[in-house]
Amino acid sequence: MRIADGIAVVTGASSGIGAAVAVRLAAEGARLVLVGRDPERLKTVGARTGGRAVVADLGTGAGIDAVCGAVAGTGVSLLVHAAGLGAAGPVEDTDAGTTAELLAVNLAAPIDLTRRLLPGLRETGGHLVFVASIAALGVANEAVYSATKAGLRGFADAVRIEVPGVGVTTVLPGAVDTDFFRRRGVPYDRRFPRPVSAERVADAVVHGVLNNRTEVVVPRWLSLGSRVHGAAPALFARLSRTFG
Ligand SMILES: NC(=O)c1ccc[n+]([C@@H]2O[C@H](COP(=O)([O-])OP(=O)(O)OC[C@H]3O[C@@H](n4cnc5c(N)ncnc54)[C@H](OP(=O)(O)O)[C@@H]3O)[C@@H](O)[C@H]2O)c1
Repeated sequence: MRIADGIAVVTGASSGIGAAVAVRLAAEGARLVLVGRDPERLKTVGARTGGRAVVADLGTGAGIDAVCGAVAGTGVSLLVHAAGLGAAGPVEDTDAGTTAELLAVNLAAPIDLTRRLLPGLRETGGHLVFVASIAALGVANEAVYSATKAGLRGFADAVRIEVPGVGVTTVLPGAVDTDFFRRRGVPYDRRFPRPVSAERVADAVVHGVLNNRTEVVVPRWLSLGSRVHGAAPALFARLSRTFG
């Protein structure tokens, strides 16, 4: 698809991957709608990209309404779902409130926004990007987060089949150097794989859109994990338990 001059909505645009995607799309000539909760950080990204800020909590129906209201009738051609949050810890220790928030922001919000903006995306022959995670394959001590990202991947797979006129790219990053880990309250402490930059993920997003890629894993070598998971899930679980 053509990015230049199209209207691109980016959720999670106030930070990390979403902010880097916004900057990258602005360089391609997109007209941006930047969605996030933090008005100051959205303003900073708006100044860099010329994008219009929409302050909205995507964990609420009012937040989803605000985004849809802001773009009504504008002809959105690209919708990038990057907003999300993590949680780490044993599954028995994950409380119901955390589960509800993760499900609302990481899964229900992209589903609802997609549903409501799909008529416009059909008209423009547009494109959807879902920033999932390699955790969609299942990561120990991130069970609820993994479930939201696996759900997102499944939703994207279904929409891709159901709506052939709209491109759908799912992005599965490994660890990325953003505020994500600080916000979830548990630092990334593995020596391997090393976190990649948000800009590298943004490059992969734009490449995925321009080339209508189905699934993009960043860094690319992590797709080996995805292939093992698909072909031999029991082996994947064994290897994961042994090597983390
Ligand atoms: N960092 C990683 O290692 C990694 C790896 C794989 C996948 N991902 C995924 O990449 C996406 C972006 O994460 P990131 O690494 O860029 O983290 P980040 O820097 O913490 O950014 C998260 C973004 O999501 C927004 N957000 C969170 N809750 C929201 C809510 N209730 N309503 C509206 N916006 C909300 C934040 O907006 P405000 O700041 O304005 O609240 C922020 O813009 C997430 O979906 C994450 O799951 C991250």
